[in-house]
Amino acid sequence: MKKVAILTYGCQMNVNESAKIKKLLENNSYEVIEDIKNADVVFLNTCTVREGAATQIFGKLGELKNIKEKKDNKMVIGVTGCFAQEQGEELINKFNYIDIVIGNQNIAKLPKAIEDITNSDLKHVIFTNNEDELPPSLEADFENGFSASIAITYGCNNFCTYCIVPYVRGRERSVPMDEIIEETKKFVNKGYKEILLLGQNVNSYGKDLNSGENFAKLLEELNKIEGEFWIRFTSPHPRDFTDDVINVIAKSEKVTKSVHLPLQAGSTRILNLMNRGYTKEEYIALANKIKEKIPGVALTTDIIVGFPYETEEDFLDTLDVVEKVKYDNAFMFMYSKRSGTKAAEMDGQIDDNIKKERLQRLINLQNECSKKNSNIYKGKIVKVLVEGPSKKNKQVLSSRTGTNKVVLFEGNINLKGTFVNVEITETKTWTLYGKLV
Ligand code: 5AD
Ligand code: SF4
Repeated sequence: MKKVAILTYGCQMNVNESAKIKKLLENNSYEVIEDIKNADVVFLNTCTVREGAATQIFGKLGELKNIKEKKDNKMVIGVTGCFAQEQGEELINKFNYIDIVIGNQNIAKLPKAIEDITNSDLKHVIFTNNEDELPPSLEADFENGFSASIAITYGCNNFCTYCIVPYVRGRERSVPMDEIIEETKKFVNKGYKEILLLGQNVNSYGKDLNSGENFAKLLEELNKIEGEFWIRFTSPHPRDFTDDVINVIAKSEKVTKSVHLPLQAGSTRILNLMNRGYTKEEYIALANKIKEKIPGVALTTDIIVGFPYETEEDFLDTLDVVEKVKYDNAFMFMYSKRSGTKAAEMDGQIDDNIKKERLQRLINLQNECSKKNSNIYKGKIVKVLVEGPSKKNKQVLSSRTGTNKVVLFEGNINLKGTFVNVEITETKTWTLYGKLV
């Protein structure tokens, strides 16, 4: 049996697609293994959202080249995902030892590509067409066994001016609601305890279907499915966050009380340049409304510092929003120029040192907020989903609250993949500690 290894970079969508790739290859009699040195075929499922992602991939490719040479070239190297879609044939021009390049909408062709390379004289196989075909809904499995993700939309129509995603993932396409419901039921029946709904902009779900289906309805229907499980989703767009979605989250017992609400920037001027479609004040009002209507909700966010033309005053607006909204957690990035996007063409690019300095100030402020938010949990009893042994200490279990806080406590490993209650005895910035109730 041929052995294949898949290395995943980037976001949850890539994790989801790697699980599908794995299933697809297993269905075609491949054995999926972890160790790249023992693999006949290695696939890199790549990301290109920021410069750093590409740099990481170049490093890995160098390593694979060495392994391939040691094996007398008897190894197939394939690249999938956003970087593959973006670069296409260029990748092979740059790195001749790459055999296969497969774009985001061509995953289904993966077994054929491997066959073509191994059984014909073809030197390289490239599939990067935008076929507007949704990747097949395979019954993928997820390694951890308790958390499964389902893509509800593919692509993005927003064209935020810094973002490469609309170019590499194409226009927004929603998966019909009945398919999502069926998939959720299958995962729940298999014993998964958490369903993560994925999309570049989940709350514009259904707009392209013309069937009246929308994100609020989808959540409502999924909440009706029997069984004890959590429903999470990422990411919504602040501009499309309607009241009915807030109401559904508030009243649906299975939908966790956590909302990832990407801010990107606090200054209305910069938000305009980013084409985000909301002002600073509108964003803060939305965050307040969500907090008011969903008591105990945890808000998290994405923030970019050093977008073109960002002044110190603009940056202070970002800090101001962080202070006012009091996020539980934030993913914070320095702006990274992506060629082909509008922002890459803008004058007024910001010096790297200024970006670094702003990022550090933002991180410092956010750490304080995270710490304060963690403190609130002290003495409380919380429901958690047990994920497995903690990385540092195998005697300790790592778990997560519905609000996405990591909780460590002593307990039997058999509790993995179950819901338990834990009393919080100690809190740190990123981690809560407790004892099983
Ligand atoms: N530079 C920096 N961060 C970016 N993101 C997307 N594109 C860029 C870029 N060019 C960030 C955004 C987005 C997250 C997934 O990645 O904050 O929400
Ligand atoms: Fe990129 Fe904006 Fe689409 Fe998110 S909503 S994927 S940031 S273009």
